[in-house]
Amino acid sequence: MARRRPRSRQRQEEEDDRQGSGDGLSTWAVLAAAGRGERLGSDRPKAFARLGGRPLLAESLERLEGSGWVDAIVVAAPAEWEEPAILLAEELGAGKVNSVVTGGESRSESVRLALAEVPEDAAAVLVHDAARPLLSDTVIERVLAPLSEGWDGVVPALPVSDTVKKVQQDQVVETLLRDELVAAQTPQAFVASALRDALAGDLAAASDCASLLEARGGRVKVVEGDRRLLKVTDPEDLALVESWLE
Ligand code: CTP
Ligand code: MG
Repeated sequence: MARRRPRSRQRQEEEDDRQGSGDGLSTWAVLAAAGRGERLGSDRPKAFARLGGRPLLAESLERLEGSGWVDAIVVAAPAEWEEPAILLAEELGAGKVNSVVTGGESRSESVRLALAEVPEDAAAVLVHDAARPLLSDTVIERVLAPLSEGWDGVVPALPVSDTVKKVQQDQVVETLLRDELVAAQTPQAFVASALRDALAGDLAAASDCASLLEARGGRVKVVEGDRRLLKVTDPEDLALVESWLE
C-alpha cells in the first residue's frame, strides 16, 4: 500500500509539473529502505538506526532531494515504519518524496512495489540502497549519463582486491579471474521501461536490479564507483560511515 504525503492541490499540481508528467523526461529515484537490518542488530530497522544523530535514511533522502538530477522519490519502508518515513521526509523538507510504500520480503520485491508508484512516462529510474548513506551527486551524474548512449542500465562498481573463489560445500570449485571482477554498488540507473520489464519476471535471489536486466540480455554498463558508498551491514560499517560524515 502506498501512502502519499498530504499536500495542497496547488502544490500537487506544481509537483506534477516538476515531475515531468507528460514530457517523458523525468528521473525518479527508488530508495530501498525496507530491510530488517538483522546483521546490524539494532532495536529498529537499519534505515532508522542512528547515524550522526539522525535516522540513517535521512542521509540518502536528503542527498537525493538535493540532487538536480532527481525529479521525484519513492521510498520503500519496512512495515509499520511508513509513517516515520513520511514524517522524516516532512522534517527534511523533502518535497520530492512522492510516496512511501511498504516494502516486500526481498530487496527486489521492495523495488518492484516502489516502481509501481513511478509513472509510466518516467524516463529513468535510479535505484539506491538506503544502507549506502553517502550518496554523491557526482556518482548520480556518472550513472545517469550513459542511459542517453543506448545502455539499459548503469552500475557503479569498485575493483576487487581479494582473490574471489567459487565454493561448493567448503570445496573450491573455481578461482575467478580478479581482473574481470568488480564489486557493484548503488545507485544503479535504468531506462524505466527496461527496469519495469526486468522486475516483472522471476526475482529469484537477485541481490541487485542490474542482474535481472543482464539475465534478460539487457546492456548494463559499469562506471567507477565510490568507496564512500560503503554499504552499512554491521556496526563497524556504521561507525566507519559515521566517521566520514562531514
Ligand atoms: N531492502 C529492502 N527490502 C528488503 C530487504 C532489503 O528495501 N526486503 C533494502 C535495505 O533496506 C537496504 C538494501 O535493500 O537499504 C540492501 O539490503 P541489506 O544491506 O541486506 O539490508 P537489510 O536487508 O536491511 O540487512 P540484513 O540483510 O542484515 O537484514
Ligand atoms: Mg538483507
